Amino acid sequence: QKKIQIAPSILSADFSQLGDDIRLVEKGGADIIHYDVMDGHFVPNITIGPLVLNSIRKITKLPIDVHLMINHADNYIPEFAKAGADWISVHVEACPHLHRTIQLIKSLDKRAGVVLNPHTPLSAIEDILPDVDFVLIMSVNPGFGGQSLIKACLDKIARLKNLLIQKNLEHIEIEIDGGVKLDNIQSVIDAGTDIIVSGSGIFNTPDPIATIHQMKRL
Ligand code: DX5
Ligand code: ZN
Repeated sequence: QKKIQIAPSILSADFSQLGDDIRLVEKGGADIIHYDVMDGHFVPNITIGPLVLNSIRKITKLPIDVHLMINHADNYIPEFAKAGADWISVHVEACPHLHRTIQLIKSLDKRAGVVLNPHTPLSAIEDILPDVDFVLIMSVNPGFGGQSLIKACLDKIARLKNLLIQKNLEHIEIEIDGGVKLDNIQSVIDAGTDIIVSGSGIFNTPDPIATIHQMKRL
């Protein structure tokens, strides 16, 4: 049994005090910082880039998991690597030359992940699986924090888990992103998830430290 890791998404943090919010989730026992990059093209929202990453890199030792929701990812991956990303994931829907993109991430010595939107079937990543370190299953349509988890995605995680066992690729970690909160986290764990991203489910609670503690107790 792998240990489940909690990755707060700073998309729901208060950007006027981002450093304080990161120290807060660190205190709560967060394992990873999830960093959402949106370009206003692949997804209908714009967030943060390498500049902000470079600043937060200086204030935390936790691994930073950079989730790229952008087109033309290859053009930006080296800069995110240089700014301090530890993990970099790209969407299968946004990468026509996915194998090349994954190799680029690995050539920069970063952990490489592939991401699937809720409607994208698992078959879309079957041939890239041996090359990745983790798979991120979106449980909301990417673009915004605070949406509700799409339940069908839990079945997809369970099927992915079986596929990884079948293919002898159990070292690949399964990450979930979107709508995970204390009240549904048990079902997410039961489905076979290794890494849990939660934004509003942590930052929009009265006591984020206590929330992470409770999540980790499950
Ligand atoms: C959504 C982002 C998520 C988002 C999750 O497009 O990729 O990381 O921050 O936020 P919650 O946990 O509020 O659904
Ligand atoms: Zn994300």
